[in-house]
Amino acid sequence: MTALAQHGIAELEPQPLDAPPHTFCVRALNAIDGNAFRALRLEATRPEGKDAKYFAENDEATWPPERWRERVAPTPRLIVFGAWDGPQLVGVMGAWDYDRRDRTALWGNTYLREDYRRQRRAELIYAARETWTRRNPHYDSAVFFIREDNKRSREIHEGNGAVMFAKELKRWRDGSTAMACWYEKPMRSPTP
Ligand SMILES: CC(C)(COP(=O)(O)OP(=O)(O)OC[C@H]1O[C@@H](n2cnc3c(N)ncnc32)[C@H](O)[C@@H]1OP(=O)(O)O)[C@@H](O)C(=O)NCCC(=O)NCCS
Repeated sequence: MTALAQHGIAELEPQPLDAPPHTFCVRALNAIDGNAFRALRLEATRPEGKDAKYFAENDEATWPPERWRERVAPTPRLIVFGAWDGPQLVGVMGAWDYDRRDRTALWGNTYLREDYRRQRRAELIYAARETWTRRNPHYDSAVFFIREDNKRSREIHEGNGAVMFAKELKRWRDGSTAMACWYEKPMRSPTP
């Protein structure tokens, strides 16, 4: 039994490596997906790319392969869901422990390749991440930040029950400095 199954957390069927193109599926990544995750993250966050301004400054470009494998190996307190088009990783969303507050998951790593957007495909990855967090006994809520001018991401989360609770000045991967809005979404119903 895997670490996820031991905690009653649903697992999705792996997409076979020889899957034909244009079969879209969402599943949790494993350590063997470290290279695919690295490639997609570096594509999303490359400083000259149009989405770089939506990702906080980080040192991922210098990480060795083991760190990428650790970053996607699922544990009861860390998961990355990936969207696959055949054997190609085209989107990711992650959740892990938020170190500034107990019983809280931090959501991040949210990216879907441009060709796949506005087709309700991201919705499938959002749903997988949210289900994992809701079923996870370690968490009562999820928090995440969104750059203030990221209209699409804010519209999605504000329309789905997230509430802004703080703003923070951040440096972003394109070298800019701008406000981030912090959001919270409860993962358990309040007790009556
Ligand atoms: C943010 C991003 C992933 C959104 O992708 P997208 O293709 O526009 O998303 P979709 O078309 O699947 O839309 C999600 C839909 O699911 C809906 N939804 C339903 N349940 C949801 C849930 N639990 N959580 C989130 N969305 C949910 C949303 O409301 C939205 O529907 P709408 O278009 O009617 O509002 C994509 O634009 C992207 O990768 N952008 C660049 C990187 C980025 O900005 N990352 C976020 C950093 S914070």
